[in-house]
Amino acid sequence: FEPTDSGAVEIEKDLTPIKEIYQDDFLIGNAVSDSEFEGNRLELLKMHHNLITAENAMKPAYAYNEQGEFDFTAEDSLVQKAKDEGLLIHGHVLVWHQQSREALHTDENGNPLSREQALENLRNHVKTTVEHFGDSVISWDVVNEAMNDNPPNPSDWKASLRQSGWLEAIGPDYLEQAYRAAKEVIDENGWDIQLYYNDYNDDNQNKAEAIYQMVKEINENYAAENDGELLIDGIGMQAHYNLNTNPENVRRSMEKFISLGVEVGVTELDVTAGSDNELTEQQAQAQAYLYAQLFSLYKEHAEHISRVTFWGLNDSTSWRAAQSPLLFDEDLQAKPAYYAIMDPE
Ligand code: XIL
Repeated sequence: FEPTDSGAVEIEKDLTPIKEIYQDDFLIGNAVSDSEFEGNRLELLKMHHNLITAENAMKPAYAYNEQGEFDFTAEDSLVQKAKDEGLLIHGHVLVWHQQSREALHTDENGNPLSREQALENLRNHVKTTVEHFGDSVISWDVVNEAMNDNPPNPSDWKASLRQSGWLEAIGPDYLEQAYRAAKEVIDENGWDIQLYYNDYNDDNQNKAEAIYQMVKEINENYAAENDGELLIDGIGMQAHYNLNTNPENVRRSMEKFISLGVEVGVTELDVTAGSDNELTEQQAQAQAYLYAQLFSLYKEHAEHISRVTFWGLNDSTSWRAAQSPLLFDEDLQAKPAYYAIMDPE
């Protein structure tokens, strides 16, 4: 046959939309680039989802031109496309050690800027970006991946922080400073935008404990001055899993986060299974089973879960394409994992 659009076949229009199955539970999101807003990829995106995250476009590295001035041209185009299609937008990301802008915290010789200068740059980046997108976004990942993997002494969250340019220049309070800067802009404008902390290996109990302690302390500090109000509204569990992931560990982390009174977002879900862009029948079934277990857990905690966002539309464009981690295959056809989450109980 002839491919109908950019080399891909027709999507299956008779499937039940994922967003419909979970409409009483949480939003269904996907990570997108500009190229998703065309042809049958756009159809698949719109059919199953009601929320997007920019897979890369809204990261600090792409928010400046060569002269180091803010330039949101590409971001604005993506945001406009999403709005035109009636999709909600989650902002990703303001402060991260990757795809960042080195010059904000490090000088040309690789040394950290003074605390004062880096703090000014941090606040300026956060405030300008939040102000620019305004309430086009429903939420922001303010800080991403600040914790070490499996920290040995998780009750000391400051000692569990990953080395990064921001940490070196400012110290452990760079997190609280970033949230406060975002919150100031939101409050000045009277917007309703949720502020998230986002991280991976969220099923690791030591990492979950360090995240718990960090959010607890920052929120307690803020609540004491602001009539009990939250500063960090939500914790994003990236959910980059694999066939060895134990859903009971996911449950423990999730329940721990919920106990802080914050909402939980599943922000970057995918489950690696195969290799070399191939899945055996057995791997496809095991992947489907884990997806079903996860969605059954998500449904159980739906009251506290704002969204479940997949990290990519289909296997061939996934950042982990070789291991076929998503619900739709290279031809945009539903895999066993799709059918498994239709009726997870
Ligand atoms: C990834 C993108 O998917 C890739 O295209 C890019 O090359 C690197 O970043 N955690 C995050 C996401 O918070 O921003 C990352 O996205 C995946 C891990």
